[in-house]
Amino acid sequence: MRVVYVEDLADPQLDDFTRLTDVALRRRLETDGGLYLAESAKVIQRALAAGHRPRAALLQEAFLAELAPLLEPFDVPVFVASADLLAGITGFDLHRGALVSMHRPELPEVAEVLRDARRVVVLEDLADHTNVGAIFRAAAGLGADAVLVTPRCADPLYRRSVRVSMGTVLQVPWTRIPWWPEGSRLLHEAGFTIAALALSHDAVDLGVFADAGHEKVAIVMGSEGDGLSRRALAEADAVVTIPMQHGVDSLNVAAAASVALWALRPRA
Ligand SMILES: C[S@@+](CC[C@H](N)C(=O)[O-])C[C@H]1O[C@@H](n2cnc3c(N)ncnc32)[C@H](O)[C@@H]1O
Repeated sequence: MRVVYVEDLADPQLDDFTRLTDVALRRRLETDGGLYLAESAKVIQRALAAGHRPRAALLQEAFLAELAPLLEPFDVPVFVASADLLAGITGFDLHRGALVSMHRPELPEVAEVLRDARRVVVLEDLADHTNVGAIFRAAAGLGADAVLVTPRCADPLYRRSVRVSMGTVLQVPWTRIPWWPEGSRLLHEAGFTIAALALSHDAVDLGVFADAGHEKVAIVMGSEGDGLSRRALAEADAVVTIPMQHGVDSLNVAAAASVALWALRPRA
């Protein structure tokens, strides 16, 4: 760890952090460029515990004592600045006090993620990073073994997803699953019953499906606007619905995933 005190946000060494003001650059940095940003001591700790490698850190001086022991083992620059200076960076949350740019980990094979799993959540083309983060949090809290995301699904390592997930995107095993039918082939090969969560009059009630006691279940959730694709519905072993009341037509996808995870939790 090399502590560097900075007094000018224009310093090019701070590019990982200051270029965040430009949405396009942020996207490139966080996805194509192989980096993501971890903020707050708790999330940084989870990222390091998961074996992810830091590239650089930017801290408010008051947070140096707390984060130094975590960053000490790495040969990385730790930029320290005053709260006033950091307040000038869009997206820098002074309450969290720290940002660390991390190298993205290589994603594991689907088969590896499924090997010992009994409950997995599959996210088909979700667009909202908040929903992705909330589902990871539910997946961790309700005992899912993994999350699989389709190729066009919003990025779990996007800053908002990481934040909303409370760092659980760094804890729950996850990877990208190929589009159907290759994705369903991999799930079936690993012994999973595929449950497509959807709003359909001829769907099975979630409670009835849960009572069947399937050993391994993949809970497939659809996008915020259109719901699941026809292809996903066709590939599923069961279309499962959470009965709605009081004229409400559907739940938010993260709320629906939480209900399904709870109802389908392994009983033994
Ligand atoms: C907001 S909903 C999409 C609504 C979309 N108009 C539709 O008809 O599917 C997003 C996802 O949440 C899940 N979902 C929401 N409410 C549900 C319910 N009552 N039963 C089963 N799944 C539900 C489904 O996976 C759905 O694709």
